[in-house]
Amino acid sequence: MHELFKDIDQDRARSFKGRDIISPLDFEKDEILFLLDVARRFETFREPVLPGCILAALFFEPSTRTRLSFESAIQRLGGSVLGFADKGVSSVAKGETLYDTIRVVEAYCDAIVIRHPLEGSARVAAESTERPVINGGDGANQHPTQTLLDLYTIRKEKDRIDGLRIGFLGDLKYGRAVHSLVDTLCHFDVEMKLISPKTLRLPAQLREKLDSVGISFSEHEEILPAAAGLDILYTTRIQKERFPDLLDYERVKSVYQVDRTILPEVGEELTIMHPLPRVTEISPDLDDYPRAAYFRQSANGVTVRRALLALVLGGIL
Ligand code: NCD
Repeated sequence: MHELFKDIDQDRARSFKGRDIISPLDFEKDEILFLLDVARRFETFREPVLPGCILAALFFEPSTRTRLSFESAIQRLGGSVLGFADKGVSSVAKGETLYDTIRVVEAYCDAIVIRHPLEGSARVAAESTERPVINGGDGANQHPTQTLLDLYTIRKEKDRIDGLRIGFLGDLKYGRAVHSLVDTLCHFDVEMKLISPKTLRLPAQLREKLDSVGISFSEHEEILPAAAGLDILYTTRIQKERFPDLLDYERVKSVYQVDRTILPEVGEELTIMHPLPRVTEISPDLDDYPRAAYFRQSANGVTVRRALLALVLGGIL
């Protein structure tokens, strides 16, 4: 065990070895805090602790950040990556099932990260193999590693999670980054403002969960005045690819365009986050606003994914 990790909970570190990362619901609050703590140590820890490890990255849906930050993470850890970024170039195009693909790929790698349009697909993949499977996003369902890097960013920008007032803006219905983050924030003492068009409200099941754990939230259609007094505004893209009817997308696609004009109204504390990619919902004129955190947020993705891979593949035991 490296010096930097001597004082972490060893049993807990061992419990991550070989584990699937499918949904934030699979993790206790203490485990999430543990992951964030280990990730913080990876800011300064640069050793290649996974030499020879191979990560398979199977991306059945477009991705820039998730795929490339996993690739960067495994390579910085001394390992390597194989896979595909477009299902059109894999045997799925010939009709191969997900089960068969996973059964074949497991022989080529030590862990698998998968992104797939079908909800529940990452779970199916995990049940098909003994190799650890990491969900890089399954349809509109979950995106657990995005949530880890989001929480990591919140802590880094704000020094805390408890006590924050967090707004979610945009596509709260189809956004898996929102679903995973809201689910996970149920462990914390936060207040939420949910800002979306009526047709893209947070799913009822999640609103019920917020109620049942006692998180106070309110729903809004307009950015202002809802965003006034918030600590964080988590903005999101309208998820065009999830709309059954593109006409419905056309109606809402440009509904929010956050720009510098909101700044005098929102108070000094507002940190702006976005899982990216953005389309028109955040104007580039906000990029040099000191509390625009979205590029720092995506950079944190590598640190968090290095920590996660090191734990899941036993690199710091
Ligand atoms: C998100 C995703 O794929 O769910 N992107 C990401 O992983 N950073 C958000 C989005 O596509 O809008």
